[in-house]
This record gives sequence, C-alpha cells and structure tokens, in this order.
Amino acid sequence: MTTTPTRTGVADARVRHLAQAERARYEAANPRSRAQAERAAEHLMFGVPLHWMNDWATPFPLQVTQAQGARLVDADGHERIDFCLGDTGAMFGHSPPAVSAALQRQAGRGLTTMLANEDAAVVSALLAERFGLPKWQFAMTATDANRFVLRWLRAATGRQVLLVFNGCYHGTVDDVFVDLVDGRPQQRGSLLGQVHDLTHTTRVVEFNDLAALEAALAPGDVACVLAEPVMTNIGMVLPEPGFWERAIELIHRHGSLLVMDETHTISSGPGGYARAHGLVPDAVVVGKPLGGGMPCAAYGFSAELAARAEAAKRAAPPGHSGIGTTLTANLLAMAAMRATLTELMTPAVFATLHARCTRLAEGLRAAIARHRLPWCVTQVGARCEFQFCATPPRNGSEAGAAMDDALEQALHLFLLNRGVMITPFHNMMLVCPDTTDADIDRLLAAFDDALATLTA
Ligand SMILES: Cc1ncc(COP(=O)(O)O)c(C=O)c1O
Repeated sequence: MTTTPTRTGVADARVRHLAQAERARYEAANPRSRAQAERAAEHLMFGVPLHWMNDWATPFPLQVTQAQGARLVDADGHERIDFCLGDTGAMFGHSPPAVSAALQRQAGRGLTTMLANEDAAVVSALLAERFGLPKWQFAMTATDANRFVLRWLRAATGRQVLLVFNGCYHGTVDDVFVDLVDGRPQQRGSLLGQVHDLTHTTRVVEFNDLAALEAALAPGDVACVLAEPVMTNIGMVLPEPGFWERAIELIHRHGSLLVMDETHTISSGPGGYARAHGLVPDAVVVGKPLGGGMPCAAYGFSAELAARAEAAKRAAPPGHSGIGTTLTANLLAMAAMRATLTELMTPAVFATLHARCTRLAEGLRAAIARHRLPWCVTQVGARCEFQFCATPPRNGSEAGAAMDDALEQALHLFLLNRGVMITPFHNMMLVCPDTTDADIDRLLAAFDDALATLTA
C-alpha cells in the first residue's frame, strides 16, 4: 500500500482500505436494514423516500425504527448515538417530551383549518422577543420561508437582483444555486429542471470579501443579500471580526436589505447568531428545529420592511401572491412551535448545549493534534465541525477546496459502525439536551480510533 500522505495528511490508499473494511463490517452487521431497503426499493425511486437519503456513507440505507432524545434504534436493533440530529431538525432531541405532549393535546382538537388560533399570537410574540424583529409570518420549511422572503423583498423594493455568498445553501430555493467559477457566476450543474438562467438575477461574491460585496451592490439593483451569518453548508466559515458590521453598512448604503438565514446558526442561542452578536438584519429566517422536529419555519421583518411588504401586497391586483401553502401554520405546527419556544429554545437550554459542544470541540482538537493532522475544528454554539485544512477557511472556495469526499465517507462509516452518527455531506456534529458526557466520550474515542487507523 502506498502510504504517502496527501493534502489532508492521510494517504489515499489508507482511506480506500478503511472504506472497504467498514463497508464489509456494515453489511455484516445490518441484515435487516438491507432486507427492508431491498423491499422498499421496489416502489421507491432510488430506494428511499427522498433521493439524498442515499448520500449517507452506508452501502445501503440504514432503516430506523425509533428515535428518542440523542439516540436512535435501527432495524437490526442497534442503538446509535445521533450527532446528526436530522441535520438540525432534531436539535432539541428526538421527540422532545414538551413537543410530544403539545402534539398529543392538539391532535384531538383539530390538525389544520386555515384559520388562526391563540398559539399564533403567542408564537409570534415569542419570536419577536427572541429575534428582536417585530413582524412574523410562517412557512413549513426553511426553504419555503426563504422563497417567500425573496418574493416579499423583491416586491417591497421593486428590485430584482439577489446577492448570495459563494458556496451557500438556503434549501432548494432555485435562485441561490449560482456559484463563482473562475470569478464568474455559474448556475450549479446539479440543479435539475431549471429552465431559466439564474445568473441574470443572482449575483454571487465570496464571503468575507467586503470589496466584492460593495462592487456587487454598487449598481443599486440588489433587492437583498441572503446569507447565513456563519456559512455552515460547505463546511463552516466564520465571519472575520467586523465583517458583518461593515457589510450591513454597505448593504443599507446601497438601498438593499439583509436577510439572515438562521436555520443552522440558531445553534448560537435562542435568537440565533445575529442576536447573540448584536447584529440587526432587516429579515430573519428560521426553520428546522423551530417545531422540535415538526415541519415548521418562520420569517421575521423589521417594522419598516413589514410596512413596505404590506403596501406591496395592497397595491397588487387581487389574486395569488405566490406566497404561502395551504397547510402552513396549521394547528399542529403552531402547537409544536409554542412548546419549542417556551420549553426548549431558552437561554438555559442553550447554555447546556454550548458547554457540551465546547467539550466535544476541544476533544476533537486534542485528537487531531495527537495524530498530527492538518485539520481544524470550528464551533458555533451547539454545532461544531472538523475540516480537512490546517486553518479555518475564509470563504466558500477555501472551504470547498478543503473537502475530501472519500475521506469523509470512510470516516463517517467508521463512526457509524461504532455506534455514533454524524451529519452526511460534511463533518458537522450537533449536541442536543439529551446528549451526555458519556455520549461525547464515545464519539471522541471512536474518532481517535479512526484517526489512529488512518495514520498508523
Ligand atoms: C441555512 C439553511 N437554510 C435553509 C435550509 C433549508 O431547510 P429545509 O430543507 O428544512 O427547507 C437549510 C438546509 O440545510 C439550511 O442549511
């Protein structure tokens, strides 16, 4: 075996060897998952209900039977500690008791009516208090919330152009699928079935690049900048000190608006990253864990933006606005959000999550140092991520260049075979209120073993 380390500090041959051994181990240990996956494949495209469920590192899809707190049980009866937590949807644990109880209470009293109830007033007041923005509307997913916000902001400003950061992800909102390739915007080739050239109305610059941001805003046609306050989907990219303060100044100077998508950075605290860092965007989007695992999302506007959006709606002819879906803000969703906001999205819960995640991040750093690997670890509250580069990336291009699919998949499968699961697509881990110190130790021990095997 050739054991010359590559850029990641690990030899390709060792990665291939580990992947092969771990695939065999997985196949031997999960016969019921395999049988169930084969049965399901008869009527499911790709063998799974959503094609990207196939993107886990497993040779065939793991079949889950139960999920509770920080754990899930699979079809072969293995209990696994879950640090993926539904990629943030279950950030407050699987089936949190407060949300389960609220759902049970509501379940016999109406599920969906297309009418408001008392929960809507309570939930919007709690959101206003947490995020510091006074006016709220709802959606079922963060994707939809982003889509609706774009529509409102284009209508409110009369401007067409959207500005995003290279390597961003804001759900399956078509408009954001534009990358910077050799300094030019290019529609992402992976986007299926889109017939419009999105580069006409989407501009893209690198994160942390104030000069590029200013140049892109200068024509005065940008309706809004849609951004995560910390990039989290191409690996984590932190804003440099002062970046957001200066960016907000530039955005407003050019008559544009800032939408902060806090769907992942809600891990920073009950009001997201912006609130925790004293930043004031014009609009905020929050989804995933907002309903404790139920499909719920919300978006908040400043008073001024809300007034402009309401004026745009009143000025438009009667009819469909292109905003909303029938089951949005249904009674069950409102009950779930009320329970989550009251019992789980609280400063006390976040203090626990942050302390646990700090322990995890420090343990990962220690293991990486022990094995002398050129990797770094970034933490944003309750989430952290290791990346295959020695210093944290400054933008999406650097973060993308640090990725290594083969290494990532081998490592993830190694961990999963030892009872711990981390998020597919990148190296992200989340803790929930039920994650114990022993759970973290188990992940750290498995991670250390994996690195030992890869670098032996
Ligand atoms: C920042 C951000 N916004 C929006 C979304 C979309 O969330 P959903 O898939 O629940 O619509 C995601 C999903 O990963 C995300 O990371």
